[in-house]
Amino acid sequence: MDDFSDIKISRRDLLIAGAISATASAVPSLAGAQPVPQSASPAPAMAPVMAKTSLRVNGQVRSLELDTRTTLLDALREHLQLTGTKKGCDHGQCGACTVIVDGRRINSCLTLAVMHDGASVTTIEGLGNPGKMHPMQAAFVKHDGYQCGYCTPGQICSAVAVLDEIRQGIPSHVTASLTEKPLLSAEEIRERMSGNICRCGAYSNIIDAITEVAGGKA
Ligand code: FES
Ligand code: FES
Repeated sequence: MDDFSDIKISRRDLLIAGAISATASAVPSLAGAQPVPQSASPAPAMAPVMAKTSLRVNGQVRSLELDTRTTLLDALREHLQLTGTKKGCDHGQCGACTVIVDGRRINSCLTLAVMHDGASVTTIEGLGNPGKMHPMQAAFVKHDGYQCGYCTPGQICSAVAVLDEIRQGIPSHVTASLTEKPLLSAEEIRERMSGNICRCGAYSNIIDAITEVAGGKA
């Protein structure tokens, strides 16, 4: 049986060696193994690929040079400082990041900014401002369509696009017939707004606000 009694390595030395070997393969081990050569440069797959992207955001052309992995949400918030659009789940599950791109609402966390080169993007900042609110913003205020307000920019962008979808006759899951124009109803609005989650539960007030803008009785 081997005798290890003459090896003077403390427990602390072993822990340090373990931590070092996990991060730097070129460091020789305490057992005297030869250093493993370090790769000269990071793997090419890890290097960011940059691309020029131009977006028309709220009527203004904005030119950006972005890592191609940048989501539209991060481009708006982190590169253009348009922080009205919110990041809730970052996984397409809550609708807080909804913006309108070329007339259609999308979850901006689920799409890459470079995929929308040349597109028109409308965010909550582009719909209106406190001095001149969009009718949907005014209706949300009037009907208390929010509590904490975190989901509200996404709810309002979605609601504006929902009314356009109904006007254009685009059917939803609850439209009785695919060949008839959908009728404005609370059921249609609820179904179409179902991708926008409100943790505060302001749903009935949100429906009232949208119904009023649509010309119905809240
Ligand atoms: Fe995009 Fe939740 S942040 S859907
Ligand atoms: Fe708070 Fe909707 S108002 S999450």
